[in-house]
Amino acid sequence: MKKTSLFILTISLALLTSCNNTKSSYEAITYFKMEGDKLLRPTDYRKWVYVGTPTTPNDMNNGKAAFPEFHNVYIDPDSYKHWKSTGEWREGTILVKELVSVGTKAAVSGNGYFMGDFIGLEATIKSKELFPNEPGNWSYFSFTNPGSKNLKDTATAFKTNQCNSCHAGNAQDDFVFTQHYPILRSAKNAGENTTPENSSSRPKTMVIGEWDPAAPTPENLDLEIPLEKEALFAYLKSGAYKKFKTQEKEKHPSTGPHTQVGLPVQVFMNDIIASSLAENRDEHPMGASIVKEMFNKNGELAGWAVMVKTQDKSDDGLGWFWYEVTSSEDSDAIAAIGNGVNGCISCHQIGNRDMVRTAFPFQK
Ligand code: HEC
Ligand code: HEC
Repeated sequence: MKKTSLFILTISLALLTSCNNTKSSYEAITYFKMEGDKLLRPTDYRKWVYVGTPTTPNDMNNGKAAFPEFHNVYIDPDSYKHWKSTGEWREGTILVKELVSVGTKAAVSGNGYFMGDFIGLEATIKSKELFPNEPGNWSYFSFTNPGSKNLKDTATAFKTNQCNSCHAGNAQDDFVFTQHYPILRSAKNAGENTTPENSSSRPKTMVIGEWDPAAPTPENLDLEIPLEKEALFAYLKSGAYKKFKTQEKEKHPSTGPHTQVGLPVQVFMNDIIASSLAENRDEHPMGASIVKEMFNKNGELAGWAVMVKTQDKSDDGLGWFWYEVTSSEDSDAIAAIGNGVNGCISCHQIGNRDMVRTAFPFQK
């Protein structure tokens, strides 16, 4: 186990010279070692900073999750410190993802998913020096060894399109999925000598529930779409939004949970949002409206998702009215209705298009 020190490779970084000496108190060390183009299997990472455990159980993914099942994610302590003080990933950042199977689905505490055994190990590293040609300078590795009881000792980087591209397109902070890691979100830019780890603050989701509105919906606005529950449902049933000039010609498989990844959806936009998107505006004006038809697997209409801007300022999603109903017959089958619905915002805030996720101009 004396090997440990070998893995801590000290490199002097240009980064240090740009800071004044008092500010950067930590040494720029990296927590991994390369041999040629091979990454040696990281060790000691369970003593690093724990970041979170996203879970994609096989039984929720047709028996075959792409990355089964629990993903325990860790970041090296120096990169965590750097993230805390700058909100950026430093040269030499390494994040490790340890895969753990679902063991049992019942415990004395109730039904659920409980960790079984370690089954795999993956890593991602940001380094301009080592990976000058990778987007964002992030490279991806796996030590998982299907069919063997032992992990691999070394790994070569995956091709860009195998890992990097999905991270590039979907992760919130420079290729890292901070949207799924509250530990990193609360530490971002918190400041070098702060302790977000000790904070007592709990976000509004705890207080009001993820699918409840966090702000009142202004009344008596003169909008194209009515926002009152029954009036809105009647409007959607009437199909009046189909007169919007900007609409997808065909259904496409949803890349979001509307109502389930892969089921068909079709998007309609009014003129206000269409021209605002075309002009690439940071915030869409009041009245911007989008209706999304959602279909079941037989292609029958199964509900609508709606977004309407009720003021010019986005205000982190409070300025948007959110609505989703999962029936075309029952106006009470509502998943959410109101301004500032956090469950919707948490996903829609990705990208810098004021909450709009659909590719625009439309592909078809
Ligand atoms: C289809 C999209 C997708 C692809 C392809 C993908 N990942 Fe990820 N990756 C994710 C998501 C989503 C997360 C965060 C949530 C989770 O772990 O499920 C993640 C998290 C990670 C993390 C933890 C750090 C972070 O960036 O959040 C590592 C390490 C990682 N992936 C490695 C890999 C490797 C290695 C490959 C290629 C074999 C790969 N990923 C391919 C979607 C993807
Ligand atoms: C897990 C992530 C996620 C959540 C949660 C989510 N959405 Fe979406 N939504 C998406 C993605 C991704 C798209 C665009 C891709 C697609 O479906 O084709 C989208 C598209 C939409 C659209 C079409 C306009 C646009 O932004 O592209 C509407 C309207 C919409 N969502 C409303 C809602 C409402 C209302 C809620 C909350 C009840 C919600 N969404 C929750 C991911 C999400």
